Amino acid sequence: MNPAHRVPVASRVYTPAPGEASDVELMPAGDVTESVVRVGGTIRRPHQPQSLAVGEYLDWLEDAGFEGSPRFLGRDTQGRDVLTFVPGQCAEARPESWVQSEDLLVSVARLVRRLHTASAGFVPHAHPFPRSPFPRRPVRPNPTDAAGLICHLDVTPQNVVVRDGLAAGLVDFDLAGPSTALHDSFNTAMHWVPLRDPADAWPGWEDRDPFRRLRIFADAYGWTEQERRRVPDAGIEAAALSCERMRHNAATLGGGWARMWQDGVGGLISRRRAWLEANVQPLVAALTR
Ligand SMILES: Nc1ncnc2c1ncn2[C@@H]1O[C@H](COP(=O)(O)OP(=O)(O)O)[C@@H](O)[C@H]1O
Ligand SMILES: [Mg+2]
Repeated sequence: MNPAHRVPVASRVYTPAPGEASDVELMPAGDVTESVVRVGGTIRRPHQPQSLAVGEYLDWLEDAGFEGSPRFLGRDTQGRDVLTFVPGQCAEARPESWVQSEDLLVSVARLVRRLHTASAGFVPHAHPFPRSPFPRRPVRPNPTDAAGLICHLDVTPQNVVVRDGLAAGLVDFDLAGPSTALHDSFNTAMHWVPLRDPADAWPGWEDRDPFRRLRIFADAYGWTEQERRRVPDAGIEAAALSCERMRHNAATLGGGWARMWQDGVGGLISRRRAWLEANVQPLVAALTR
């Protein structure tokens, strides 16, 4: 859309076109947001403190030619956010075996790379992203990282839309905000390789080789030599921060965050951290060989 013709996100109201489909379907529950539904060709989600910042970011991505994100259409008469439905399939909470495809892994890495390219230059102005009590990136960023790149930060198998076996879209921008491309791409690899203690492998994923899959991701995303050497340490720092953030959110926000904490996400992240610490050398070797 021509940006000059666009209603500002804060005053955008969604009015269905006459005759528009209105069948309602409950979406598979993610970890956090209650009652995400599809209504015809739209998704309705509860309005959140970050919704308008996300709306502006989605406008920017559309203008930048990024084809994989929903559009923010405004709010409906119930005050819910209305987004375009991105057709395709997302993984279940316990990713199905088709999610293991290496072609899919390559396409996820390339999609996130395109997202980062499209995000460059975006500076939220009317609606800054709400401040997080924790930095969104590892505590010791590389001085050469471009600071403040707005990223997705939650590219899990449940938030990637797959069509014909390849990653076609990203949904659920609730955690989007300023970070670095390395942090967001590492976070994506962590979810998709996945990088976790082998004892925590999803059912049916026990035989996946994390070193091989991480290398495939690295080549497809295009990590530099220097980034490849920093990845294990960045991951160890990210795990520490992530554990603190989850604990904080569970205590202050409750809901899905508290459920995840009770279900043992803290232990999962601590075991991931220990696995990364024990495998720094083989990980760097797999990435740089
Ligand atoms: N714009 C969208 N297009 C298509 N499917 C979507 C869209 N938004 C959400 N979904 C579906 O609904 C599910 C839950 O929504 P999501 O926004 O990820 O909520 P949560 O915060 O609970 O993870 C997603 O995993 C996906 O299957
Ligand atoms: Mg989600």
